[in-house]
Amino acid sequence: MAEQKPPFYITTAISYVNGSPHLGHAYEQILTDTMARFKRLDGHEVMFLTGTDEHGQKVAKTAEAKGMEPKAFCDLISQEFVGMTQMLNISNDDFIRTTEPRHYKASQAIWNAIKENNPEDIYLGKYEGWYSVRDEAYFAESELTEGVDTQGNKYKLAPTGAPVAWVEEESYFFRLSAYTEKLLDYYAAHPNFIQPDARRNEVISFVKGNLQDISISRTNFSWGVPVPGDDKHVMYVWLDALTNYITGIGYPETGGDDYKKFWPADYHVIGKDIIRFHCVYWPAFLMAAGLELPKAVFAHGFINVNGAKMSKSVGNVIAPNDLIETYGLDQTRYLLMREVPHGQDGNFAHEHAVQRINSDLANGLGNLVQRSLSMIHKNCDAKIPKPNVYTDDDKKLLDHAHNRLIRPVMEEVDNMRFHRALEKIWRLVNDANIYVDTQAPWALKKEDPERMNTVLYVLAEVIRVLGIATSAVTPESSAKILDQIKIPEDERHFGMINDEYSLPSDFEIDKPEGIFPRLDEAEKAA
Ligand code: MSP
Repeated sequence: MAEQKPPFYITTAISYVNGSPHLGHAYEQILTDTMARFKRLDGHEVMFLTGTDEHGQKVAKTAEAKGMEPKAFCDLISQEFVGMTQMLNISNDDFIRTTEPRHYKASQAIWNAIKENNPEDIYLGKYEGWYSVRDEAYFAESELTEGVDTQGNKYKLAPTGAPVAWVEEESYFFRLSAYTEKLLDYYAAHPNFIQPDARRNEVISFVKGNLQDISISRTNFSWGVPVPGDDKHVMYVWLDALTNYITGIGYPETGGDDYKKFWPADYHVIGKDIIRFHCVYWPAFLMAAGLELPKAVFAHGFINVNGAKMSKSVGNVIAPNDLIETYGLDQTRYLLMREVPHGQDGNFAHEHAVQRINSDLANGLGNLVQRSLSMIHKNCDAKIPKPNVYTDDDKKLLDHAHNRLIRPVMEEVDNMRFHRALEKIWRLVNDANIYVDTQAPWALKKEDPERMNTVLYVLAEVIRVLGIATSAVTPESSAKILDQIKIPEDERHFGMINDEYSLPSDFEIDKPEGIFPRLDEAEKAA
């Protein structure tokens, strides 16, 4: 009996609907999707949640500027994000919108749970301080910098570069100051909670630097979840937004199947700009509500374009569908996963993209599959041949595919190091291409057909393994590879990667068709 693997719950940040999806959002979705797909391939039951963050002043103001009711505006933009997940072939199990009734219920329930468990932790007061609408965040005076406009007027800026405004309003506060020690203890006891390490250090020094209580309700606008029992207040958008991670698995039904199975989450995948909310506020809210904390938060870097930050004003924002049209979907997914190092910023540059796609996909995997299967088609009556005696070279390649691929790959995957996981898979692609060149099966047809059969069988088997191993990153193309060699759908998982399940012989395969076309560098300028 195969061992039963634990369920796995992974989430993306939920995107603000104040603007259309861009490459940064696409990157986060693909990153999370890759993890979800790898875990499913490895036999885990996976819950993958993504969605949209629709409340708060930023969205309300954008809707107003467009002359639309907030809900109608949210419906429109949220649909664009749903469209993006479909276009990117994201395998999310649910898509949450914070304007859904289930989410109002969960947000109000967590508020009540905090009040019930720790009545002192929520208190009414007056907020006087700085607020950045763009970040939907409060900042202390000490964190601000000063800018000067063209008329010489001074103004204050958040550390993110966003403008801040002075706010004075009645507000409920959360007693975050009471959580300093508890948070530090938690980080110490769970060294993997904040990843990568550099982010962890950043959070620890923020927490050590004197946590202030935070305002968790607003009264000067109404686009949000009403505070239970005092509906002239709406909940602070981040308290509402963070709660999505438990709404999606049925909170407040903590006895429900999904909640019991999937909470605490294995990974919240987010961008580096929102770690404070995920690694300080969220765990403190959960502790206060008497709920378990997620196992890990992984903060990825930002995607830059030709070395510059993507920005509307610079005009270098890349829409995900532009890339897909230029390179193809799986090529884009591969590129982002292969090129962006763990937790760091990634740079997008066209020339580099073309080179990478051509070398790894067109000339690497694509060529291996095409030439091997074409030879089988042509020289073996389109049937997978029977292997004869294995030489050391054959054994070595098969051993690599069966015994030395998936576990090392999954070690990288478990730490969100997809560039390394792919590097490891592509070592097998390269070894297999070298094997084709050195065995030269095309030359064996006349002089030693049995040897040719063995070589082509070994190649078909390695292609089967590669088809399965790559399918988290290039799902559609990998499925085409596996279709060509007639692997049944239910045999496309890591449990099938060993010699016990090697390809049978003598069955007919399709005429191979190219999977990854070669890109022409000059023609395809993005
Ligand atoms: N709504 C909040 C998240 C709430 S989660 C409870 C938010 N939304 S966002 O639309 O601004 O960003 C969504 C995600 O995209 C964040 O994780 C953010 O870091 C990420 N990215 C936004 N721009 C990005 C890049 N240029 N590159 C990579 N990811 C970036 O924050």
